[in-house]
This record gives sequence, structure tokens and C-alpha cells, in this order.
Amino acid sequence: MTAKSTAEIAADQAAFWNGPGGERWLAAYGRIQRSLAGFSREALTAAAASPGEHVIDVGCGTGATTAELARAVGPTGHVLGIDISETLLAAARAHRVDNATFVLGDAATHPFRPQSYDLVFSRLGVMFFAGPVPAFRNFRQALKSGGRLVFICWRAPSENPWWLLPVRAAQPFLPPLPRPGPEDPGPFAFADRHRIERILKEAGFTGARIAPVDLPAFLGPSVGEIIEGATRFGPLATPFAEADPAVAAEAKAAIAAALEPHLTPDGISLPGACWLVRATLH
Ligand SMILES: C[S@@+](CC[C@H](N)C(=O)[O-])C[C@H]1O[C@@H](n2cnc3c(N)ncnc32)[C@H](O)[C@@H]1O
Repeated sequence: MTAKSTAEIAADQAAFWNGPGGERWLAAYGRIQRSLAGFSREALTAAAASPGEHVIDVGCGTGATTAELARAVGPTGHVLGIDISETLLAAARAHRVDNATFVLGDAATHPFRPQSYDLVFSRLGVMFFAGPVPAFRNFRQALKSGGRLVFICWRAPSENPWWLLPVRAAQPFLPPLPRPGPEDPGPFAFADRHRIERILKEAGFTGARIAPVDLPAFLGPSVGEIIEGATRFGPLATPFAEADPAVAAEAKAAIAAALEPHLTPDGISLPGACWLVRATLH
């Protein structure tokens, strides 16, 4: 099989986020916001957006971080939220934030105004580029001298039991998950910090600081709701859709057995692990 071109990979990502990826993200958004609250706080604190600043929120999705950044930069500043998913941008626009603009586009190639931004920020939106080096070069060109790049991305599945535990439990029963190659886009594409360092260096960001952030990630209020969610959102949604009902029932029972020991009066949270990445343009 011939390898896909950058344009084909970008088109696949756009189709995914305008199709099942966007729909599932939206359907699970309440739970996702709660799961990501701590990671979000760490990233926004590190970004330290301040009044009057001009900011890009890359892969802004439904715009929750765009709205927070817009509050931080105030009426004299501005935030540009960019995303390839019209499905998610429609939800973002509902925020009606005066000093934010939402744009449909591929952040990797979008013609941002050169040397005009103080901060390029992203919460989990930079791991899906067909060509990450040109994408980060594009962000570098958009930043003013002294501007900051701040983003958060997942570490490996093995360090993220909130993701791995249900997958491991269900795996013997369901069709296998696709195995992305080391350079393929996806939620764990930036798990290897050496890969992040290499991409940023090649894109012209020197002296990046990459620090682990370890926090509990909320899966859901009950075992039943988590399993119901797993059939609709996340890595198991497609395998569940393809499995016959008897096999799906076995997979659900296996997930329930794995989750039950972790149930607390507040539902279930399991460890989550991100990299917080910071670089300044000199
Ligand atoms: C995991 S979601 C994170 C969304 C949002 N940042 C949040 O934390 O709620 C990844 C987002 O990146 C967007 N995305 C993926 N590739 C993109 C690209 N090349 N340009 C712009 N957005 C992209 C997706 O549409 C999706 O909204």
C-alpha cells in the first residue's frame, strides 16, 4: 500500500472532525469538560494571557478555552479560535464572545497575519496535523518576537489509565483498534517528548520546556454511564458499532468488572497524563 500524501492525511482529519469525531466530541462534551478541567487550568495558567494580548487558540473545538482566553485578554485584546470542524465551531460561536473570532480552517496552513500574535495556545488541538513541522513553522511566523507557544497534549496510553483501562478490558472481545504509526496524527501523536522537541526545533522554536502534568481524569458518574459513553465516544465507539450484540455484551461486562473497583461516591476518575509544552520566540 502506498503511503498517503500530506493532503490526503489532512483531508482524512477534516472528514473525521466534521463527521464522527466532531459529533462524538460534542455528544460527550459535558463529561470531557469535567475530565479536562485540571489540565485546562494548568495550560491556561502557563499561557498567562494578559489584557490587550492577541492570541490564537489552535483546534479550539467548542471554544471553551477561547472564551477563557478572551476574558483574560479583555476588550483591548482579541482571540482567534481556529478549527477544521464546522460541527464544533457551530457550538463555539454560541459563546458569543465579543473579542473572539472563530474561523474554519486548517491551522497548519491558515494565512495568519505575520508577526502579530503574543500567544499561540492549544488544549489538545495540535496532534492532528498531517505535517507538524510546517504547522509549527506557520505558528512561528504568526508570533511577534517574544511571543509564546503554550500547549497541552497527551502522554502515552500506558500513562493514561482513564483511556487504557476500558480499552484493555474490552480488547479481547472487540475488533482490534487501528495501530497508528509513529508519525501518524492522533490523540497520542505527541506522546514522545523527543518527537515534540524535534518538531519544535525543526520549526524554529528553540529552548522548549516540556513538563509532565499528572491529574485525575473524570470518566463518569457510574459504571453504567461510562460504558454507555464508551459505546458512543472514544476509541471503542467504532469497535462497539461493528461488534455483534452478544460479543458487545461480553465486552461491556469486562469493562464493568475493570471499572467497579474504582467507583467512589463521586463517580470514577483515573490517572491522566499530559505534557505541558512552552516555548518563547526569540
Ligand atoms: C481533541 S479536540 C480538542 C478541542 C478543544 N481544543 C478542547 O480542548 O475542547 C481536537 C480539535 O482539533 C481540531 N483540529 C484537528 N486538526 C486540525 C487542524 N489541522 N486545524 C485546526 N483544527 C484542527 C479538531 O477539529 C478538534 O476540534
